[in-house]
Amino acid sequence: MFGEQKVSFSGVQPSGNLTIGNYLGAIRNFAAYAESYKTFYCVVDEHAITVRQVPAELRRRTYETLALYLSCGLDPEKNTLYVQSMVHEHAELAWILNCFTGFGELSRMTQFKDKSARHADNINAGLFAYPTLMAADILLYQTDVGPVGVDQKQHVELTRDIAERFNQLYPGTFTVPEPVIAKNGMKIMSLADPTKKMSKSDENPNAVVYILDDRDTIIRKFKRAVTDSGAEVSYTPEKPGISNLMTIYSCFTGKTMPQIEKEFDGKGYGDFKLAVGEVTADALAPVQANFARYLADKGALEAQMKKGAEEASYYARRTLSKVQKKLGFVQIR
Ligand code: TRP
Repeated sequence: MFGEQKVSFSGVQPSGNLTIGNYLGAIRNFAAYAESYKTFYCVVDEHAITVRQVPAELRRRTYETLALYLSCGLDPEKNTLYVQSMVHEHAELAWILNCFTGFGELSRMTQFKDKSARHADNINAGLFAYPTLMAADILLYQTDVGPVGVDQKQHVELTRDIAERFNQLYPGTFTVPEPVIAKNGMKIMSLADPTKKMSKSDENPNAVVYILDDRDTIIRKFKRAVTDSGAEVSYTPEKPGISNLMTIYSCFTGKTMPQIEKEFDGKGYGDFKLAVGEVTADALAPVQANFARYLADKGALEAQMKKGAEEASYYARRTLSKVQKKLGFVQIR
């Protein structure tokens, strides 16, 4: 809460191309919050460098991620859209929170375990402390709700623990946030292995549908999607492949699982996969058209980054100086 206003905060990393999993699980749901919350949506470039990045690509993707926020309907007059590294308070509060977070707590984070297995040659302290930077993002804005994909729920729960611990020592410092998991934006799984999450860093390009894939590519990827034995379109744990495609179809059409089962009753997997490809391509077409338009005007994107950073700083500064004062840092005005 900032004053009377409830706050919603979320972030997206500018690493890798964003997938329909990111879209359905998070970004698509962001716009609705502006109705009843003060909303901050951040491009988290400081999180991205916990694994090695090619600088030119990181820069390009930072522009792209901001353009994508705008393309998905986030109105910059109603939402604060900005880039993390342009607001220095994030890194500063993260340091402080590191001093209030246990080694054991961070060791238990499943994302850390996964990423350190995948990047065994570069298990750096930043990767380990990734959740405290995320906690800083959230707590700086006195966030009430953090809309995140299911994979980030554990990090928001850790953020709550850190906030409560800090508040016990220094009462009234932080709002304790609630994670909000998208209702029907359930976890979207890989098209090649439906037991694995669809990940933008997957090496198999057929496993992943990107928000910016063209229509033919989308339809081809769904045609190749791994399905299950049998021939019926039904939502059951025995059919993880078909169930995943049904989730995607349901997210894009708003239809329920029984409705989808009925719609494809007597039809084969082939027809169903084609239909999933078509609704996905149709739904993404307007986002893609907007994206091309926003990306073409770099100057306007930079102006937006500057405006967003100024807005965010105003709030971030207030929380950070409150924290510094409580900790006993000397403040001279
Ligand atoms: N860690 C999140 C992800 O990879 C991104 C993120 C960073 C975030 N800071 C955040 C999400 C704060 C919600 C709130 O998806």
